[in-house]
Amino acid sequence: MSDRRIPKEKVAILDCGGQYTKVIDRKVRELGVYTEIFPMGVSSESLSDFSALILSGGPSSVWANEAPKYDDRIFEIGKPVLGICYGMQLISNHFGGEVIPAYKTEYGQTEIDIDVECPLFSGLSPREKVLMSHGDAVKKCPDGFSVAASTGDVTAGVWSAEHKIVGVQFHPEVELTENGLLMLENFLRKICCLKDVYALEDRIETSVNMIRDRVGDDGKVVVLVSGGVDSAVTAALLCRALRPDQVYGIHIDHGLMRKNESDLICENLSSLGLVNMQRINAEDEFFNKSITIDGKVYPPLSEVCDPEKKRAIIGSMFFKVTDDAARKLNIDFETAYLAQGTLRPDLIESGNPDVSGYANKIKTHHNDVGVIRTLRDRGRVIETNWDWHKDEVRKVARMLGLDEEIASRQPFPGPGLGVRLICCEGPESLPDEKKLAEIACFTRDKSDGNYFIHVGPIRSVGVQGDCRSYKLLSTLYPASKAPISPREVDWEKLMRLALDIPNKFDFVNRVAYCLDGYPTERESAAISCDGMHICHESADLLREIDDIVTHNIMNPKIAQCFAVLFPMSAGGGKKYSCAIRAVCTSDFMTARSAVPGKDFPTEALANTVTEIKNAVGEKISMIFYDVTGKPPATVEWE
Ligand code: XMP
Repeated sequence: MSDRRIPKEKVAILDCGGQYTKVIDRKVRELGVYTEIFPMGVSSESLSDFSALILSGGPSSVWANEAPKYDDRIFEIGKPVLGICYGMQLISNHFGGEVIPAYKTEYGQTEIDIDVECPLFSGLSPREKVLMSHGDAVKKCPDGFSVAASTGDVTAGVWSAEHKIVGVQFHPEVELTENGLLMLENFLRKICCLKDVYALEDRIETSVNMIRDRVGDDGKVVVLVSGGVDSAVTAALLCRALRPDQVYGIHIDHGLMRKNESDLICENLSSLGLVNMQRINAEDEFFNKSITIDGKVYPPLSEVCDPEKKRAIIGSMFFKVTDDAARKLNIDFETAYLAQGTLRPDLIESGNPDVSGYANKIKTHHNDVGVIRTLRDRGRVIETNWDWHKDEVRKVARMLGLDEEIASRQPFPGPGLGVRLICCEGPESLPDEKKLAEIACFTRDKSDGNYFIHVGPIRSVGVQGDCRSYKLLSTLYPASKAPISPREVDWEKLMRLALDIPNKFDFVNRVAYCLDGYPTERESAAISCDGMHICHESADLLREIDDIVTHNIMNPKIAQCFAVLFPMSAGGGKKYSCAIRAVCTSDFMTARSAVPGKDFPTEALANTVTEIKNAVGEKISMIFYDVTGKPPATVEWE
């Protein structure tokens, strides 16, 4: 880390706790400008070396007691400022505008009118598609600013040429804002007039030197290899930096891997030059043993339903199994190092609480549970990819000569199928009859009577307005009982409906469309849920379905594709239903559901349904396709 080349021109990102702060970071770096991230409360003096400031979005309201504190002199040090979402509300509030709570809630892609004279929008057309994700809104433009963008009567952009301060209510950093990258480039090059290019050169050498400095000639490193590109790059860099006898690779099969995955990983890893490579089959330990986390005894995974507890247990168990294996090799983390493929976004989000002091936690990542944080604080964790984003890691993988199979591999979350087995003891409680009638009526009207909706009986995780949500699943069914082939469905219309429903009804965050096994509206009233837990049987069933889904649907246009299993039955003794999830994204911070017939052939969907029915039809009641974007849902269901 010591030998980084830091360019003169650099931009400070002030983090107000937004989920997209790391995407701002990635996009600005992609545009060749060096960035550093600070907590919102950083003093204006610390920013004197920076060329410009970007204020991120965040979950707070500017007028709330818990709103992030800031040094108001940041607006007096003569730096150009871009405020995004919460950042724009803060600018507006600071300069005498009016920010109103829940004035106009918008989650999802929206069209806005822009003033093309504002240099931020240079080269764009008067109407642009952008991603909105906010509850509060700016009602009155701040003094000395002009309105640079709007949706109806809501201000979507403010601009002061005099101060070189610009604010946007939407998120230019995410892909759903179609010309967002150009807007950021306009800010950096036209408003801030930056010239430097931060070329991310010598990455491999820098990383290799860092490893040698820290580990020395006698040190040992245990690297956890999951099979994904991130840990494979870490393992390859360690092999390049150290003698083979200093590096120990461990692959843990927690019983929640995909079909045949562990075999494939172990074959691939030996070609990296990992001589000391161990595979540990630890399903029994993960599923059936309790574990102590922060002094509290947690029950075995097979008895737990809460998504965050499941994640905490799996993450902590990873370390326990690694630690036990290391001890058998006479390695102990008092002196040895644990290496992980953690990326810059993970560290931004969680590695340094000072950086993201206000962020609303969406999910606990397996490489950042308490025990790993403690080890990191003690300086025992090596994270070779600490300064890289996902796309950069893929490039490094290719530079290191890793198999394309690994370099371009779709992400697989550390907790594996554990977060795709939706566990519960029984049905979740539903909103009152009036609300259910309203959502039914809304769906029928919006779909011209083509679909009806059912709410519950399970919940899944989502992200709305920078906050975590854990809300009911809603499922859509064709109103006609006659089978409808995927080719006949108007998918884009369905996806618009999937955006409207959670925007209008705050008790749902995810919408899935039933492809097979659908009940009539009358029968849907009897949809039941007997609960589900993680066990060998449920994991095996999901593994089988996931394999069918991936083989049929995955292609280079799709960033991630998998199956989810949940306890929902439309009558008749079958306990489970499953959903197909396929998303298009490159940053994974926002995503859209892949459109059948556009992103992959509708036949592939039809084949998937047939194959699932042939293989495990006796256990599966209904088969769904998840039509929700992120936001309001997340890619994974938990
Ligand atoms: P979500 O579900 O938050 O996921 O939209 C975004 C991306 O992150 C992956 N993911 C994880 N990856 N450990 C990981 O290494 C985790 O605990 C984890 N949880 C989610 C997810 O698969 C998607 O690619």
